Amino acid sequence: MVRPLPRLVGASHNDSHGKEAIVSWIQSPQQALKVQIRWLIRRDMPEVLDIERQSFEFAWTEEDFLCCLRQRNCIGMVAEYNHRIVGFMIYELHKAKLHVLNFAVDPEFRRQAIGAQMIEKLVDKLSQQRRQEIVLEVRESNLSAQLFFKKMGFKAVLVLRSHYDDTDEDAYVMRLTLVDEEAILLPFAPANRISEYDAA
Ligand SMILES: CC(C)(COP(=O)(O)OP(=O)(O)OC[C@H]1O[C@@H](n2cnc3c(N)ncnc32)[C@H](O)[C@@H]1OP(=O)(O)O)[C@@H](O)C(=O)NCCC(=O)NCCS
Repeated sequence: MVRPLPRLVGASHNDSHGKEAIVSWIQSPQQALKVQIRWLIRRDMPEVLDIERQSFEFAWTEEDFLCCLRQRNCIGMVAEYNHRIVGFMIYELHKAKLHVLNFAVDPEFRRQAIGAQMIEKLVDKLSQQRRQEIVLEVRESNLSAQLFFKKMGFKAVLVLRSHYDDTDEDAYVMRLTLVDEEAILLPFAPANRISEYDAA
């Protein structure tokens, strides 16, 4: 079985965004519906597929999900409210980043900070020492998702021309990172030995 084409794909550019913006935003919305976010299990698939079909014109099939989740580094999570699945996300663990492949909230439950809580969950999995960024790819026509991810602190870092098999649409690679640009640049900056000496 061929692995399904990721809806969201990674990038390698540097960018500066902290996790404070997202965490402070999550704490502020009035309309937040508190959800429980847990591992996706086989039993959740019918509800996940239902959300998938309502969310995307070119929806993944059950086999696409299963094929993806069989990979060792692939994780599925669901957001649950009152024993009902109201959102899901599928992502891959890479050495230095999380790569989100699929992400959706039930249309009936949108604009209640459920997507934001799922992003917060991902941000919690980052660490300064190891995985420092979340990357994903969004269709150029999917303005609402672009606005959502922008609000969450992601930045568009790359355009992938005619990226999809189903249309000739471009994809925008968006990225949220814990890494500060200064922190990246500093080790390569020329050292001022005199001021170091003065300070000592
Ligand atoms: C994108 C998506 C996941 C957002 O989920 P959500 O739970 O509705 O998002 P939230 O309620 O957490 O939104 C947080 C903020 O993001 C922004 N935002 C979210 N949806 C938006 C929209 N349709 N238009 C403009 N801004 C939006 C807003 O600033 C919002 O805050 P506000 O509601 O206080 O104004 C959801 O719309 C969805 O499932 N879309 C279809 C699937 C999809 O496109 N997935 C992404 C694939 S790349």
